[in-house]
Amino acid sequence: MADEIFGKVAAMKSQILSAEAADADQLEAFRIQYLGTKNSIKPLFAEMKNIANERKKEFGQELNELKKVAQQRYDELKAATQQSGDASETVDIDLTAPPGELQVGARHPVSIVMNRIINIFTKIGFSVEEDREIEDDWHNFTAMNTPEDHPARDMQDTFYLKDSTTRLLRTHTSSVQARVMTTRQPPIRIIAPGRVYRNETISSRSHCQFHQVEGLYVAEDVSFADMKQTLLYFAREMYGPETKIRLRPSYFPFTEPSAEMDVYWGLKTEDDYRITKGTGWLEIMGCGMVDPQVLTNCDIDPEKYSGFAFGMGIERQAMLLYNITDIRNIFENDVRFNRQFRSVI
Ligand code: PHE
Repeated sequence: MADEIFGKVAAMKSQILSAEAADADQLEAFRIQYLGTKNSIKPLFAEMKNIANERKKEFGQELNELKKVAQQRYDELKAATQQSGDASETVDIDLTAPPGELQVGARHPVSIVMNRIINIFTKIGFSVEEDREIEDDWHNFTAMNTPEDHPARDMQDTFYLKDSTTRLLRTHTSSVQARVMTTRQPPIRIIAPGRVYRNETISSRSHCQFHQVEGLYVAEDVSFADMKQTLLYFAREMYGPETKIRLRPSYFPFTEPSAEMDVYWGLKTEDDYRITKGTGWLEIMGCGMVDPQVLTNCDIDPEKYSGFAFGMGIERQAMLLYNITDIRNIFENDVRFNRQFRSVI
């Protein structure tokens, strides 16, 4: 008799342990059956009177164990149904639906123009050189033959670091010329793209930060004609195969002779008149033969080597190519502006 009752308890225990609940209803059914007020464990307690005294304790422990197992199994099933319940409620995936629009990033117009310039020069053997934006006055000015009292050194134009008279934000990428020439002997053929800073009033046409690409070629027997041919090649790659250029005499402390290169833009529209100030010509870059004094400053023998250098602003070219009328748009990073360049590589 007692063994039969013990057997009942054991059977119920394995029933409980193997019970499943596929949804909330089945879970509730389990709860009613094993944990509710009229649960099927309760009647087993009434069997106590049929158990011999020496086994009563053991039987009581079995029943308590049964209650515990029922509660544990209930908790497990509840957790499981809640999890799968959540998933089926919130994730309603239609695997046949066409994909939504992918938000593709856009390249910044400055990067686009800079990369084009870099490509044009790397094709003819120039390598890319990058250097620091926080410079010392030697590399930015002194090495570049800019005397102590030159207006370009004036606090008006140059951002010096706080409490420093020597550390500054570079005002042009020509500082990279000095960085390269002091560490390497010719032949040198590099372009240096990067950001530069000048203490200028911000307006639609000028900003206190902008980008330049510097070029430097130093070797034996480099001539002005080499420079002109290189720059003509650049202008035609950049602005089309028919592009005309002109070199106007100019002045830079670090080149002699110095020139300004213009590209013929034309005078077809009223806009052309405006952007070329009625001349049809657009100033694109400064250039010239590296001043022998600059070579000497950087420990390169000017008797043996000569070279040319050039430097151009990026923003102005980007503005021309993409009809941007206000330079401030370039630095504000308004997504409505930046997104317009999404389809441009
Ligand atoms: N550094 C000059 C500027 O910022 C440009 C330049 C570079 C001119 C190299 C000549 C040679 O305007």
